Amino acid sequence: MLFKRIKPIDQIIATAEKKSLTRQLGAFQLTMLGIGAIIGTGIFVLTAEAGQKAGPGMMIAFVIAAVVCAFAALAYAELAAMVPVAGSAYTYTYGVLGEGVAWIVGWALVLEYTIAASTVCVGWAGYVNSLLANHGLGLPHFLQAGPMDGGSFNLLACLIGLAVTFLLVIGTSKSAKVNTVLVLIKIAALIAFIIVALPAAKSQNFTPFVPNGWGSPMGGIGVLGAAASIVFAYIGFDAISTAAEETRNPNRNIPIALIGSLGVCTIFYLLVSYGAVGSVGAQPMLGPDGVALAPGTPAFAAACDGSQALVCSKDALAHVVQLLHHGNIAAFVAFAAGIALPSVILTMTYGQTRIFFTMSRDGLLPSSLAKIHPRFHTPHIITLITGTFVSLFGALFPVGILADITNSGTLFAFIMVAIGVLILRKTQPDRPRPFRTPLPWLVCPLAVLGCLLLFLNLSKEAKITFFVWGAIGLVVYYLYGYRRSHLARGVEAD
Ligand code: ALA
Repeated sequence: MLFKRIKPIDQIIATAEKKSLTRQLGAFQLTMLGIGAIIGTGIFVLTAEAGQKAGPGMMIAFVIAAVVCAFAALAYAELAAMVPVAGSAYTYTYGVLGEGVAWIVGWALVLEYTIAASTVCVGWAGYVNSLLANHGLGLPHFLQAGPMDGGSFNLLACLIGLAVTFLLVIGTSKSAKVNTVLVLIKIAALIAFIIVALPAAKSQNFTPFVPNGWGSPMGGIGVLGAAASIVFAYIGFDAISTAAEETRNPNRNIPIALIGSLGVCTIFYLLVSYGAVGSVGAQPMLGPDGVALAPGTPAFAAACDGSQALVCSKDALAHVVQLLHHGNIAAFVAFAAGIALPSVILTMTYGQTRIFFTMSRDGLLPSSLAKIHPRFHTPHIITLITGTFVSLFGALFPVGILADITNSGTLFAFIMVAIGVLILRKTQPDRPRPFRTPLPWLVCPLAVLGCLLLFLNLSKEAKITFFVWGAIGLVVYYLYGYRRSHLARGVEAD
């Protein structure tokens, strides 16, 4: 039954045209939207987490995550160009695997977008807390981190989440120009980092290269564990597809933006991670038993107390530059993170509201949620609900755990998209495909296997959260969406 209610793709496109958003984004703005969503907490903060899990071998983790995401992006591009409609993986799945699976994918995308926004709130707070402390204005310790991370309530993470929510409610997401400026600032910071760190690289900092091993399926540590976390640094390219309905000539522009933004970011990440490891080293903190401690735990927080190690830093890139005695550049990197990370929070929260918007347009969520504010013309109710949760999770959980939970939902969505491409190639071979995934019978299975391997290597907390969240989603579907679905009731989109 989960597989029976398939929404014909032509109908999906027709529904979108009826209740549509204005097409105003071009290839450049869309690529900038992608880079704006991609570069964020992953590289600026989780570099430390990756070091704790993999040591210097985290550089390989960046490569593994990039390769898996590239396969997924190639699959995304085919569906996004074929069905240029808001809603991303949720919408594609509706047209291929049916409503039940689509619902679960949409439900998993909540992990991807909402929790990603929380993750970036915590990443931003790490930088701003350090900046404040450097100027003698540091907040009390208990307000600098959540309860699992040596504090009680991450005040700044909460406040930035609320501030972004306010901006979204009053309609700030439209400013593509501001986004472009912020992207340029982030790129300038990464370039400054690379210029300082690369010449300082020393060969002894690369040994031992994989102190925690390569990782094992289900292990959550080692190079594979780090790669599973680092997927977070690449997430965002699919935010491009959530803007499909607002894109001019989407068939051409979406694939360009998806692949282009991922490619640019990958090059920067590889240089930055090499620079970080080479210049200051990235050996993990060990427990009394000689085994690397799990990041985001009280034991790890205690071991890191007062340590200058990269793996302990909450503002990894600025910290590295500071250790290299370039105070001004460290301040610039911190400034760039402080000013630009909120735009990632904004993009992620925006993406979430658009997915909810699409789900309620299909009748799977109450249409009252998608009400548009008469003055601001934004889906303010959905935005306020989403923003409240974003802020709350940011206040309470450590960055690494949030990132892993985000990745669980994301990897699941990637898997569904890759499967969707193959099914549609079989069932609708003649449908026009403005972008065709190259070698689909190789690329898509590799995307599925890669995502599965990384999923298994996420932390235990993330996997448990994913399955519990999925189970709740099924209950909600049977209690609400199953009965109210517009497709099931034969209701035209309202
Ligand atoms: N890739 C985005 C980041 O790293 C979500 O912040």
